[in-house]
Amino acid sequence: MRTISTVADIREVINTEKQNGKTVGFVATMGNLHAGHISLVTQMREQADIVITSIFINPLQFSPTEDFDSYPKTLDRDLEKLQTAGNDFVFTPSLKEIYPDQKSSKTLVNVAALDGILCGKSRPEHLTGVATIVAKLFNIITPDYAIFGLKDYQQYMVIKQMAADLCMPVKVIGAPIIRAENGLALSSRNGYLSTAELEVAPRLNQVLNYVKQTIIDGETDFREIEKQTLMIINESGFKADYFEIRTQENLKVATNTDHKLAIFVAAYLGKTRLIDNVRFELDAK
Ligand code: PAF
Repeated sequence: MRTISTVADIREVINTEKQNGKTVGFVATMGNLHAGHISLVTQMREQADIVITSIFINPLQFSPTEDFDSYPKTLDRDLEKLQTAGNDFVFTPSLKEIYPDQKSSKTLVNVAALDGILCGKSRPEHLTGVATIVAKLFNIITPDYAIFGLKDYQQYMVIKQMAADLCMPVKVIGAPIIRAENGLALSSRNGYLSTAELEVAPRLNQVLNYVKQTIIDGETDFREIEKQTLMIINESGFKADYFEIRTQENLKVATNTDHKLAIFVAAYLGKTRLIDNVRFELDAK
């Protein structure tokens, strides 16, 4: 496995691989890798001839009050895990290499149709920051395939839409959420949770599954379910940000005539913001 830090060098390596007829699979990360990230590398291994993982903490997707400066940096351990997973190249650019203007970019990519809702509502610059860095990384890496975890389902949708709308020749793949045995979706931010908070955190997934089952069992007043569930989440020790039932295909507010549903939750546990979702299909009636 090789670690490369400049755009010029990674381009050279990729050109050589492509000239040799190899397909390129890409995993974008901000480091502090856990089993969820490693599952992305493993899946890419099956799909593409070479796998490139980027580690770059993207300032553009953090608001000034968020954890950009304290975001966990564990490069040595990350590299070991990537090596074990059979990753080929790691791209670890500096901030200056990606944003010559440091923490800003004169060009921003905004997938307007999927922003302003869910995480885009409470984190107004976040998805533009994500789309902008992923567009840049796609232009640098020119992957044939890129894979993103479905825990960040809205992020996955934004990236898929961006790639389609901007005619980027990459197949964007969504990968299943990896969970701890107690149901908690793996996230780098789980490392912020205290022992007591770690006991409470799996409740989010339990609530999602409970609501999913009530809908499967025939509950149809989605707005009432959302209202009641927000209260349950707050009573369980979280500070809820949102709990919403939407359509899987375009993230529209779902009603009981929709079949492909997704339930999204975001909630603070202490200072840590957790997100999760479940997606399911109702049988056509
Ligand atoms: O999901 C993440 O870790 C980040 O949002 C991503 C896709 C690497 C962009 O910085």
